[in-house]
Amino acid sequence: MTPVLQNGNQPLLHASLACAGCVPVNPLDVAGNPARIPNPCSNKLTHRKKAYSSVLKITVMNTKGGCGKTTIATNLASHCASRGYETALFDYDKQGSSMRWLKGRPSGLPPIHGVAAFEPPRVGITRAWQMRVPQDTRYIITDTPAGYALVDIEDRVAETDIILIPVLPSSIDIHSTADFIRDLLLIGKARVHNTRLAIVTNRTRIRTRAVEKLERFLNKLDIPVIARIRDTQHYVSAAEQGLGIHELTERDAQKDRETWSELLDWLDNNRGGFTEFETALLQDRSA
Ligand SMILES: Nc1ncnc2c1ncn2[C@@H]1O[C@H](COP(=O)(O)OP(=O)(O)O)[C@@H](O)[C@H]1O
Ligand SMILES: [Mg+2]
Repeated sequence: MTPVLQNGNQPLLHASLACAGCVPVNPLDVAGNPARIPNPCSNKLTHRKKAYSSVLKITVMNTKGGCGKTTIATNLASHCASRGYETALFDYDKQGSSMRWLKGRPSGLPPIHGVAAFEPPRVGITRAWQMRVPQDTRYIITDTPAGYALVDIEDRVAETDIILIPVLPSSIDIHSTADFIRDLLLIGKARVHNTRLAIVTNRTRIRTRAVEKLERFLNKLDIPVIARIRDTQHYVSAAEQGLGIHELTERDAQKDRETWSELLDWLDNNRGGFTEFETALLQDRSA
């Protein structure tokens, strides 16, 4: 039996471990009825964990527009950079909001490498060259447009470590997010690719019944809600200035520093993508 290596609390790869796709899932729809999501893998030893890499790739995604993808991508990027890590921000949305935010970022602040991935490469430049990131890049954060082509979804899922899904606490958003999660699992094969899904609820003032319903639904799928972002004009003001909320000088904005710090800690500690089920399995095996 190969020992399971640990790096701090980040589990390293274990080739003989069943892939996340093999973990029996018993998803329920928002109403609590069983959903038909097939177990994508029948061979427990076929799939391997994604290779552990020092770069953490985080993609902010949801088919709904206006739920906070750009806000989360830019705030997370500025937070990573403020911790002193080389950070890249990719923008796949042709509206280019993240790139506009980056252009407005005052010089002298921790730098972020921007890639306008929505643009075709310039003449004489390959796509690979356009998409390159500085050596020592530790975080790659990707902002995406609303809607997506189903044909691309598996590629997008396969190439990232974690998909962060912002959701607004309204019934319409919650239902469309449930459909989106189903697509990530079924068509994107998130569990086969060992891509972790995590929810960030955005603009939450109060815990509404709709939010509680969403959280119950996610719990059953073992998809955690890892942060709750409050509704405040500071996000709008930070967006206009090329800043993260924690870079604003207003005292009230500093309250949110902890939210981002905890969010980044969670992302760092869950890059291995082990679900609770797998962690328990690992502990059983190594006992
Ligand atoms: N937590 C928040 N508090 C206040 N305003 C917010 C918050 N999150 C997003 N917004 C605002 O809502 C609008 C849509 O957010 P945005 O991040 O652009 O969404 P998306 O990228 O998903 O379309 C923007 O004007 C943004 O400043
Ligand atoms: Mg956007």
